[in-house]
Amino acid sequence: MERESFSFSAPGSIMLLGEHAVLHGRRALVCALDRRLTIKISPRPDHRVTIQSGLGCYEGILPTLAPDPRFSFVLDAINAYTAELSYGFDLCIVSDFSHRLGLGSSAAVTVCTHAALRQLACKNFDRNQIFANSLQTLHRVQGCGSGADLSASIFGGIIVYRMNPIEILPLAQELPLSIVYSGKKRPTPEVVQIVENLRNMHPQLFDGIFDLMDVSVLNAQNALRQKDWKTFGHLLNINQGLMEAIGVGNARLSEIVYALREDPGIYGVKISGAGLGDCVIGLGHLQNPAAFPFQGDQIEATITALGLCIWGKSAICPQEEGKR
Ligand code: MEV
Repeated sequence: MERESFSFSAPGSIMLLGEHAVLHGRRALVCALDRRLTIKISPRPDHRVTIQSGLGCYEGILPTLAPDPRFSFVLDAINAYTAELSYGFDLCIVSDFSHRLGLGSSAAVTVCTHAALRQLACKNFDRNQIFANSLQTLHRVQGCGSGADLSASIFGGIIVYRMNPIEILPLAQELPLSIVYSGKKRPTPEVVQIVENLRNMHPQLFDGIFDLMDVSVLNAQNALRQKDWKTFGHLLNINQGLMEAIGVGNARLSEIVYALREDPGIYGVKISGAGLGDCVIGLGHLQNPAAFPFQGDQIEATITALGLCIWGKSAICPQEEGKR
């Protein structure tokens, strides 16, 4: 009997506050975006595993899958289940956002793969367990990472996140955001190492800065509850200064930050993600988009409450598109 295919979908995400500090026990604010990644898994009658995505194709035979840097998160997740899988599968990954934008595509693909493999291994859909498994994958593949982006991809909405001990606190889901891509993404572990080197030279100062970031998350929580965009905007501006202080700003990012601040519709601006690239976020919507010099780099996205979920059977793989 042919076994059924099924799909899981997870949103991308963006950090609002607390980057780097979150790796040192402080809180971060992160949110899920309505840009989604979907994985369709189709069981096979043999032990073959195939992966199809915008990054290319992969083929291997269970239980020993050769490494491939394009699919390191997916392969790590698969390897965690090989003892429980008695047959192979085709995995098709479709994303409506590029992995180059720094919108948490690795997190989204990791949580979807764990969810799909748990289902294949006849385990229940347990968000906390999927989070724990995905965090292990993140640490094995990347060597570091708070898991804040995983929490947003799994639970959706806006989340206050702490890594040690794990705290995932869902908040309101409304926040008007403008997102601008800086044109470059430096790998997160590389930027984390740059910050760590500087922190080792100035441990006391960095401790103080990370504490300020933590307080900012608490204050932002209240501002969010009251929809007090003015205060939230101040917090973004203050934290932009803190991100500069830990060495993750650059000229291009600053140009975008100041251009966004020119617009009367924007309450506050900061860079988002590890830094030295990635995106800039502005609170509010541009009133004069035509006057904004980086209009072409804007990313259309809003916050979504919909986290990881089983997706309709209609998720289409690129190679199937012509057949329907
Ligand atoms: C990267 O988006 C944010 C960092 O804090 C790393 C992490 O939280 O995993 C730099």
